[in-house]
Amino acid sequence: MSNETLSNLLNEERRFEPPAQLAAAANVTADAYARADEDRLAFWEAQANRLSWAQPWNEVLDWSNPPFAKWFTGGKLNAAYNCVDRHVEAGYGDQVAIHFEGEPGDTRTITYADLQREVSKAANALTELGVRTGDRVAIYMPMVPETVFAMLACARIGAPHSVCFAAFSAEALRTRIEDASAKLLITVDGYNRRGAVANLKPNADAAADGATTIEKVLVVRRTGHEVPWNADRDVWWHELVDRQSDQHTPEAFDAEHPLFILYTSGTTGKPKGILHTTGGYLTQVAYTHHAVFDLKPETDVFWCTADVGWVTGHSYIVYGPLANRATQVMYEGTPDTPHQGRFWENIQKYKVSILYTAPTAIRMFMKWGDDIPAKFDLSSLRLLGSVGEPINPEAWIWYRQNIGAGRTPIVDTWWQTETGGIMISPLPGVTTTKPGSAMRPLPGISANVVDKDGDIVPNGGGGFLVLDKPWPSMLRGIWGDADRYRDTYWSRFAEQGYYFAGDGAKKDNDGDLWLLGRVDDIMLVAGHNISTTEVESALVSHPAVAEAAVVGAKDETTGQRIVAFVILRGGQVEDAALDSALKDHVSKEIGPIAKPKQIQFVAELPKTRSGKIMRRLLKDVAEDRALGDTTTLTDASVMDLIASKLPHAG
Ligand code: WT7
Repeated sequence: MSNETLSNLLNEERRFEPPAQLAAAANVTADAYARADEDRLAFWEAQANRLSWAQPWNEVLDWSNPPFAKWFTGGKLNAAYNCVDRHVEAGYGDQVAIHFEGEPGDTRTITYADLQREVSKAANALTELGVRTGDRVAIYMPMVPETVFAMLACARIGAPHSVCFAAFSAEALRTRIEDASAKLLITVDGYNRRGAVANLKPNADAAADGATTIEKVLVVRRTGHEVPWNADRDVWWHELVDRQSDQHTPEAFDAEHPLFILYTSGTTGKPKGILHTTGGYLTQVAYTHHAVFDLKPETDVFWCTADVGWVTGHSYIVYGPLANRATQVMYEGTPDTPHQGRFWENIQKYKVSILYTAPTAIRMFMKWGDDIPAKFDLSSLRLLGSVGEPINPEAWIWYRQNIGAGRTPIVDTWWQTETGGIMISPLPGVTTTKPGSAMRPLPGISANVVDKDGDIVPNGGGGFLVLDKPWPSMLRGIWGDADRYRDTYWSRFAEQGYYFAGDGAKKDNDGDLWLLGRVDDIMLVAGHNISTTEVESALVSHPAVAEAAVVGAKDETTGQRIVAFVILRGGQVEDAALDSALKDHVSKEIGPIAKPKQIQFVAELPKTRSGKIMRRLLKDVAEDRALGDTTTLTDASVMDLIASKLPHAG
């Protein structure tokens, strides 16, 4: 973010107090901060007691071997029991857990009693397929209820799941399966996307063909279209799961038993398998969902628009909301199918009271026009959330005015796949918000902003965001790579023992936090985390490419867009056919979200004398800015050439 944007942000003077009614009945009040400050571990212990444990813990936090934390040691619980059975046992079996809305308009209503039967049957089916406690299960599924059933069935039998976003390619799925040595893959025939069928099974097949650990592929029938079938390996969900008993006794697992692995981009290009465990994770996602969204299970309808394949879906569709007995909406499709008011139509139809979405979506809705949401009755909304990237003040205000009728609080929630749950956010009944600021760490959470030496910056200063105390839902490591875990997150400020989040941040004069985006080579495109190296590797794997450099350039709608600078083997600097071929190639290698928006063929790339590509300069070009310092370049004239080639996106 440029200095100009930064000072604009800090000149943002609008303030929004919590509505009196919400504040008076809020789940969490201002005293929570003081209580947590006084005794952080006692505070988290009280939050853990919101869950049901089969065996109490001995110690709240074991931090004797940093950075490897253990929370609630000796405690035992079952995550699926906490998300499902205990609500049924408490007499809420008839409460709706999920209102499913398919893209074509088909619907399903799933109560907590239904959920208990479905998850039990699925757990029995996994056991019949030979899945045992500790075995990894890969889930390559779209937004359908069976994805939730499958995840909870894994949790129920203690088999860590590894969900791979359905829009990822076969190759991305294969590498994730191999890294985790998953033995079962759960997928679908296809799903509905933009009015057409997205055919997932061939991708699943290609990945399973290449991944030697997969024994069986369990296939949910969603669309019913004809799919290739491998009789030795494939099993239909409706044939196997439907004939199982709907009774299943959940076993209690250790608080530190692995719950799931979820892959996120790494700066080296190889995705990192972020490991989360059971007790601390569930404690924090349940508490933060209760505190930040102020959920009242009797009356609220919650809708998180994220895909379940991302951490937002794991924590705020599956584990947090279900642990809190939420009634929620799950929507299969895109926001503009069959029309650009589909989200607002869903809100009107299900009387959604709490909406959690991303800045990139909000900016898209702004572009589509105010008149679209205005056509729908959105009066059920009482709270709006934002996640995934910094939300600019304009989008924040638009969201509040046009979706929240100028009366709903907005909670801008900062967190990461690695943090597992929300870390920095307003409390809707407490915080007077500033558009564009995530405000301050939640009760029980500690964060700070430091300079490059690890010294804490004063109010008004900027630097790197760090987390300076362990938190219950923190990642427990990178699957199979303890060194990489230490290097990536704990080496930058090793002396101080801080977790380095990879984000730039600024403290304003009140000490409130403004997140400024990534400081490493991770791009944030439409809220998706993509590494420059990953896209570069995909590009150079194409036979026509000699070298590639990728940068994330600022984009009005998607936050950043991917711009690639490519040297072709043939040396040509114009080639329309290769332009589209390379875009498709990246899409196939990683997935459509990683497809470069622009490719610029160049004769040379700017490099330092030590041979390091200067992405900073390429970014200047891509963002149509005056070039920064070029003195370390081997040949500064190369930049004039590159700059003269790029059609400016404006
Ligand atoms: C990165 C983590 C958290 C779930 C979705 C993304 C950025 C996330 C915010 C926010 C500013 C944000 C950060 C972070 N980010 N939320 N409210 N304000 N930036 O999870 O893919 O692990 O990405 O997303 O840069 O480091 P993720």
